[in-house]
Amino acid sequence: MTSSGPVRRRPAARAPSGSPDRAAGDALSDILDAVPFACAAFDRRSGALVAQNARFRSDLGTLPGHAQRDALLATLYGDLTGDARGDEVRAPVSGRWYALHWRDLDSGGQALALLTAVDISERIETLDSHRSQQEKLLFTSRMMSVGEMAATLAHELNQPLAAIVNYLNGSLRLVGQAGGPVQVERALQAARTQAEHAAAVIARVREFVRAREPRRDAQDLPLIVDTVLELLRLEAERQQLRVELALAPGLPQVYADRVMVEQVLLNLVKNAIEAMREIPAAQRGLRIEGRVNLDGEIEVRVCDRGPGLSEAESAQLFSPFYTTKSDGLGIGLAICRSIIEYHEGRLFFEARDGGGSVFGFTLPTPDRRI
Ligand SMILES: Nc1ncnc2c1ncn2[C@@H]1O[C@H](COP(=O)(O)OP(=O)(O)OP(=O)(O)O)[C@@H](O)[C@H]1O
Ligand SMILES: [Mg+2]
Repeated sequence: MTSSGPVRRRPAARAPSGSPDRAAGDALSDILDAVPFACAAFDRRSGALVAQNARFRSDLGTLPGHAQRDALLATLYGDLTGDARGDEVRAPVSGRWYALHWRDLDSGGQALALLTAVDISERIETLDSHRSQQEKLLFTSRMMSVGEMAATLAHELNQPLAAIVNYLNGSLRLVGQAGGPVQVERALQAARTQAEHAAAVIARVREFVRAREPRRDAQDLPLIVDTVLELLRLEAERQQLRVELALAPGLPQVYADRVMVEQVLLNLVKNAIEAMREIPAAQRGLRIEGRVNLDGEIEVRVCDRGPGLSEAESAQLFSPFYTTKSDGLGIGLAICRSIIEYHEGRLFFEARDGGGSVFGFTLPTPDRRI
């Protein structure tokens, strides 16, 4: 048979010249060329490339070390890109995703390992965009729930609350004048405290929702930390609290809205100080850490020596209105989470070694902003 048949084929790619397996490899390359995926055979003992099809040569054949199985895998799985999901890898330079499959094959007495690399870039892209859509929705729904909550509360409760506080104040004056029964006075005072508490909830949520359009730019974390510590200095002194700052030297800037991040840090440090109210003064230690984490994000950690949290407590932490404090509103952490997620960061909690809690968050650096 001549090569001028009805089926036109691209010329088969050859194994590198000088390879001892060249003849066998040529035949195999012809066969592999019929496979619609990138495909190559390696010698199982030496790891050398024996045959490849044209698709393999164009997709993966330009990678460093492609002619040696181990070198090729090191390039694909190498920690330079970190882009590997199980047997799904991302090729450097082209950036395309491949699913790798290996099969043993014995051809002409030679033990081979056959690699097929199926291009799955489209599927991965669809998955990623689907996931980020879902994350966006989740975030929006949280923002909406805080927003709606605020709007409804403010609308429905503000007027009647103000009226209640006024009536109670008037009644307390009258009871005081007439030397009225002490129990009624106590009840009225308790009612006023409740009404004021509800008013404070509204004011705080409203302040958050009404806040101006966020403006994100490059910000110095140490300045943010200083501002927050200055605001809480009196409180810390009153509690004879030791404050330890551990910001990594040369920390990159964060890409964030400064006021919003200050609000988050303020809430976390306040919680930490409040958690240490009941423990002996000598043990009260607050530590604020700042560092670059393994994902290249800036991670801020607020560590206390308070009682920590049980599993049941930590499950509810971020729910609006969850509080264990007599004077708490229970919205600090819910607001923190909305703000940090707006910044594409993560708010997290973990137990602190040696007792206490760590509340932390991550923020992107200016070069990694989305
Ligand atoms: N550092 C901490 N250590 C132990 N428990 C904590 C800590 N931070 C938060 N918690 C728990 O989580 C609850 C919710 O915290 P969150 O900041 O949302 O509300 P809050 O502090 O009670 O009130 P506020 O809205 O005034 O901040 C707290 O009541 C407390 O039980
Ligand atoms: Mg709080």
